[in-house]
Amino acid sequence: MPRASRALQCVAAAIAILVVPTAACAFVSRTPGAPLPGEEVGGRGQKCDRRPTGMWCEDGLRCLQGWCYGKGVEPPDSYLFTPEASSNWGRIEDTIFEGIDLKPGDVVADVGAGPGFYLKRVAKLVHPGGKVYGTEIVKDMVPMIRARAAELDAEGVPHAPIEGRFVKSPRETSLDDLGPNTLSVVMFVNSVQFSPGKSREVNYLKRFCRLLKPGGRLVVHVDWVYDSTGAGEEVTDLARRAGFEVPPRSVPLPDFLPERTLWEPCPGCERVWITKGYTLIFRKACGADGKAKR
Ligand SMILES: C[S@@+](CC[C@H](N)C(=O)[O-])C[C@H]1O[C@@H](n2cnc3c(N)ncnc32)[C@H](O)[C@@H]1O
Repeated sequence: MPRASRALQCVAAAIAILVVPTAACAFVSRTPGAPLPGEEVGGRGQKCDRRPTGMWCEDGLRCLQGWCYGKGVEPPDSYLFTPEASSNWGRIEDTIFEGIDLKPGDVVADVGAGPGFYLKRVAKLVHPGGKVYGTEIVKDMVPMIRARAAELDAEGVPHAPIEGRFVKSPRETSLDDLGPNTLSVVMFVNSVQFSPGKSREVNYLKRFCRLLKPGGRLVVHVDWVYDSTGAGEEVTDLARRAGFEVPPRSVPLPDFLPERTLWEPCPGCERVWITKGYTLIFRKACGADGKAKR
């Protein structure tokens, strides 16, 4: 499953979970083989991302971006629907992690962690001495986050503790009880969507600024900029107002990503152009009270 696809599907699945409690955030597309007895099979134009293992598409169709395509329902001519996109997603993740450069002892919050794709990697990197918090607004994902530590234990891999926290409302951090100067890094990876210019967004980021240790970093990454995602300049403006140093360090995303590509939210839905995303790393420049020092 392409990383971008995973991210975009995660948004859709998160909405589905909020509306349909039994749904789950799913990122795994159809793999070769046959559906197991009792597994759901979708027809063309139907969703194939409803379960964590991925719902199957009927023969002759492919699960792409969470939908069954083929037989007259063709995907757009888009990078996201290519085999390269599938094989490249891990390289985007590597770029983000090289940029963040986590160290043993770091205390990290992965905000909007989904089912916790990154948490195992983070928990290994910050061991020994570190700690990882994965926060999620979708309650069903919090147990998945907590299960990541058990997976590492089962693999016999030494790791820092992982704590899953439920976020009750969109601009609550769920971490305020930790107190100021606690976190080394706060990561937003394809997660919270910021509305440009809004003071509630500034107040939200201020709370993270306060939670960060002196020299702590706020990382905002999106694979793609589309209508509901703040552009890099807009996020930079919010971060500046929230007490972070600007300009941020910008980690270039890999060259294999095109500058723009087409996105189709569902087969037959309007196709929109989306542009290559960004990884921005901001340093804390506020006091423990959250007020800007400058
Ligand atoms: C596209 S998924 C990305 C998951 C993970 N960060 C990754 O890149 O694999 C976005 C996640 O952010 C969560 N989310 C959105 N807004 C949030 C908020 N205000 N606080 C916590 N989680 C949020 C969604 O529920 C969803 O699981």
